[in-house]
Order: sequence, then structure tokens, then C-alpha cells
Amino acid sequence: MSVKSPFEDLREEHAALLREMQDLHSSVRGLAGAETSSLGGAGVVRDELEMFRRRLRVHFRREEEGLFPEARRMVSEGAKGADVFGSFFAEEAEDDMSAHAALASRAEEMVQLTSEIEDAGGADEGSARKLLALSNLTAGLLQRHAAKEDSLIFPMLEKSLTQEQVDDVRSRLHQIGSDRDLGAEGEEGLGQLGGDSDS
Ligand SMILES: [Fe+2]
Ligand SMILES: [Fe+2]
Repeated sequence: MSVKSPFEDLREEHAALLREMQDLHSSVRGLAGAETSSLGGAGVVRDELEMFRRRLRVHFRREEEGLFPEARRMVSEGAKGADVFGSFFAEEAEDDMSAHAALASRAEEMVQLTSEIEDAGGADEGSARKLLALSNLTAGLLQRHAAKEDSLIFPMLEKSLTQEQVDDVRSRLHQIGSDRDLGAEGEEGLGQLGGDSDS
């Protein structure tokens, strides 16, 4: 039986996160009054956003702590073609981390704003417009993030890492846990996921 590639796992996470973002955007449009569909209210949307934000955070952690260290190590060990790959990867990894930070902030802002809307008993024109804009921005950032990794960074690493390195990545990802493991208990259910800065 063949073992699933860790890259396959991360790609599937991208697809799942993108689907969730799409659903979230519909909920946000409902909340903002842009659609007349029935809505669950700001509390429901805020809970959905909170879960999405947690999943994002786990996904980023899997990449930053599970995947990138292997690539960095390989580059520093002077693997074949490491010079070209090294500078490429250093740039892309940095770019990717900024994208993670930007996405995390936007998701955080969305949670915050939805809480305010909930407290106010509904969205007014200003908050509705802001929430929609934030949602659009977040969706765009996520799409770019996923497309770039799926089509550029992952294929590059897939070609460059040895089977042993891929196995190391897989076991680190396994140790960190998956964003799909998040249940009602949130990140508590995941191994080693501590140090929440916002608790
Ligand atoms: Fe990433
Ligand atoms: Fe990613």
C-alpha cells in the first residue's frame, strides 16, 4: 500500500480551506444583507469564522514547522542544485510567511468585526461593507497562497527532497496534527499546539 505524500495532505487542506472560505463568504454576504437568504445571525457566522481561523493557524503551523525546516536543512547541507534552489526557496518561504501573517490578521479582523456586529444586534451599512471587503480580501489572499504553493513551491520541494526527507516531513506533520482534527475542543485536541498568544 502506498503512503500518502505529505504534499498531497497539504494540497487537500488548501482545497478544504478554499471551500470553507467560499461558504464563509456566503454567510458574510447573508449577514451583511447582500443576500436575502436565511441567515443564522452574527453569532453563527462568528463561530464559523473562529473555526476557520483556527484551521488556518494549524495549516500554517504545519507548513512553517513541518515542511519548511526540511527544505532549509536541505539547502544548508548543500544538496545538488542547492544554490539556485536555496535562494529561490529562501525568498519564497519568506513571502509565504508574510502571506500567513497577512491571512491570520485578516481572519482575526473578521472575527473581531463579526463580534462587534453581534454585540450591536446586526450590521449597519459601514460594518457590512467593511466585513464584505475583508472577506473578499481574505478569499483572494487564500487563493493566491494555495495556488502558489500547489503549483510552484510544492512541486519544487517534491522534486528536491529525498524519500527520507519526505518521510521526516510526514512524521512532523503527523506530530503537529491536522486542522481536520480540530473539533469542538479546538486546538486542545492537537499535540504540541500550545502557546496561544490570544488567550
Ligand atoms: Fe503557506
Ligand atoms: Fe498552504
